Amino acid sequence: IGILQGELSTGNIAEFIIYVNMLTWPVTALGWITSIIQRAAASQKRVNEFLHTKNDIVSEKNVEKEISGDLIFENVKFTYPDSGIEALKGVSFNVEAGESIAIIGTTGSGKSTIANLLCRMYDTTSGSVKVDGLSIKDYSLSTIRGNIGYVPQDVFLFSETIADNIAFGNQKLSEAQIRQAADHADLTENIDRFPKGFQTMLGERGITLSGGQKQRVSIARAIAREPKILIMDDCLSAVDTKTENSILNSMKKIMVDRTTVIISHRVSSAQLADKIIVLDDGKIVEQGSHEELISKEGTYQSLYQKQIQGEELAAN
Ligand SMILES: Nc1ncnc2c1ncn2[C@@H]1O[C@H](COP(=O)(O)OP(=O)(O)OP(=O)(O)O)[C@@H](O)[C@H]1O
Ligand SMILES: [Mg+2]
Repeated sequence: IGILQGELSTGNIAEFIIYVNMLTWPVTALGWITSIIQRAAASQKRVNEFLHTKNDIVSEKNVEKEISGDLIFENVKFTYPDSGIEALKGVSFNVEAGESIAIIGTTGSGKSTIANLLCRMYDTTSGSVKVDGLSIKDYSLSTIRGNIGYVPQDVFLFSETIADNIAFGNQKLSEAQIRQAADHADLTENIDRFPKGFQTMLGERGITLSGGQKQRVSIARAIAREPKILIMDDCLSAVDTKTENSILNSMKKIMVDRTTVIISHRVSSAQLADKIIVLDDGKIVEQGSHEELISKEGTYQSLYQKQIQGEELAAN
């Protein structure tokens, strides 16, 4: 105050420096707080945006009932809303409960799109998808998704233990059930080699699995929930043919009484199914059993010959 009034003296200046020093900390703290508040406000804005996002996949009737797994696609057309790409151009097929179907086709032919529609990630642009004779739109989302075991094309694992990754989405699983699922996915031998076994941490805090091992954890996760409908989207692409065969063999046991949709590039995976559809550019170009398809000249037959030759070359 003395300084403000113009009374300058050495004593006053010393006092002034002390006052300024006392102010430094509170002013700095004020700066910090302001910046924290600003950052928090920006984050809250984004969180709110996320929380207020409307889900356009809504169920009209919210039917909740046991599902046995009959699937019907009726002239399904689908265009991705964000890119305008017409991924399915009138696809019709049906699979009876407990049957298996393989979808094979070139890249971009619409295979994963069929899986997306079955999990009701999107609704069809026209035509309908029916489960047990009822439109998929009538079921509550939890009924549909709760009955589907989906192995996505892009595996997603958490930085958790292997056991937690397999049990994800189904915390009631016992250790024995987790082990059994891993057995069916031909994974136990790999896991037992890790010092901590099923308690091995994955990701940043633990070990990194190989591509094929990741795919098998993902398969184990899907089958552990014992779903009525099992969808496997190209989930054996990163394993060698020997592992593929042993997984497919144990799969046969799992596939009993379950509707299974096997999406693949490889004839070796597809031939296991009761029925095969060959997709090209969003349309079904051939369908039938493995025997029917190899006996007539077409895409499947030429694919089969190419892949068998490839395998023979690799074996020699
Ligand atoms: N989320 C998406 N948004 C926009 N377009 C998409 C999306 N997913 C796929 N598409 C387009 O739809 C078409 C069919 O894609 P889809 O993923 O079904 O092919 P695919 O048969 O599974 O191929 P791949 O064998 O490579 O997995 C492609 O042309 C693709 O570019
Ligand atoms: Mg795909």
